[in-house]
Amino acid sequence: MEPGDTLKLEFRIVKSIGKGGMGEVWQANSCGGFGHVAVKRILPIHKDDKELIKRFKREVRILKQLHHENIVQILFADLESVLPYYVMEYIDRESMANVMNGYGFNDVIRVFADVCRGVAFAHKRGVLHRDLKPANILITNDGQARVSDFGLGVFVPRDTTAITGTGDGAGTPPYMPKEQFGDLKNVSFTADIYSLSVILLQLLTKELPVGKTQEYMTTRITEVLPEVSEQAARRMISEAVRSLNDDPNKRHPSVEEFLNSILAASKVV
Ligand SMILES: Nc1ncnc2c1ncn2[C@@H]1O[C@H](COP(=O)(O)OP(=O)(O)O)[C@@H](O)[C@H]1O
Ligand SMILES: [Mg+2]
Repeated sequence: MEPGDTLKLEFRIVKSIGKGGMGEVWQANSCGGFGHVAVKRILPIHKDDKELIKRFKREVRILKQLHHENIVQILFADLESVLPYYVMEYIDRESMANVMNGYGFNDVIRVFADVCRGVAFAHKRGVLHRDLKPANILITNDGQARVSDFGLGVFVPRDTTAITGTGDGAGTPPYMPKEQFGDLKNVSFTADIYSLSVILLQLLTKELPVGKTQEYMTTRITEVLPEVSEQAARRMISEAVRSLNDDPNKRHPSVEEFLNSILAASKVV
């Protein structure tokens, strides 16, 4: 063996564990006995779609910047393959979407704080996620949350808080703020904060907040999470609703501030 030699790792595909619009995720075993990994690969029908391949490569570049305990960790990527793929740690539980309805208040706050820490780290590295929703948050065996699927992620230039329209649009209603529907001009970090607030309200009320009044949501929390005081419920709802504002400038300016205000409100008795 010499410096510069390549060591080849082999993985045996076990089964398909998720399929989206552009890619498919597989569970695989490393043949060397290092346990499970997850492999995300572009779908064969998209192998000539230059735009999608570009986006996939960007997803890999983004993940390589984001080493944090609340973000799914990439291990290896092969972008030269006919169907580009990357290998990441395998998260052995379901996504938040499948477990969130069973969460008590302590779980809600703990998991939400995990998600916020992951997103805050990404923002610090200049990365905007743009598709935050329960299906893109994976939960480990010991209940920790990891943000995943940076397929719509973008690097935001350091000297500005907004990116210019790239035309690769979208996201997922109802987690998506208004400004993300049109062209993507002026989409900034507070777009992710909007999505975080929808996620929090869904964790607290076990429903989506669309069309719900603050009064309704306050009562609803005390029904589904009886351990929460009415005061705390009211304060948390009012903070969360601030970041649901259609005007990005009226939302909490940073994920840290949003999280801190929710943590403070959660302690009100
Ligand atoms: N690291 C992982 N470990 C376990 N399951 C995963 C992992 N990454 C993704 N999945 C599963 O695959 C699904 C699709 O992955 P995702 O990255 O969200 O792809 P898409 O871009 O198609 O939405 C996820 O919702 C999740 O159920
Ligand atoms: Mg996804």
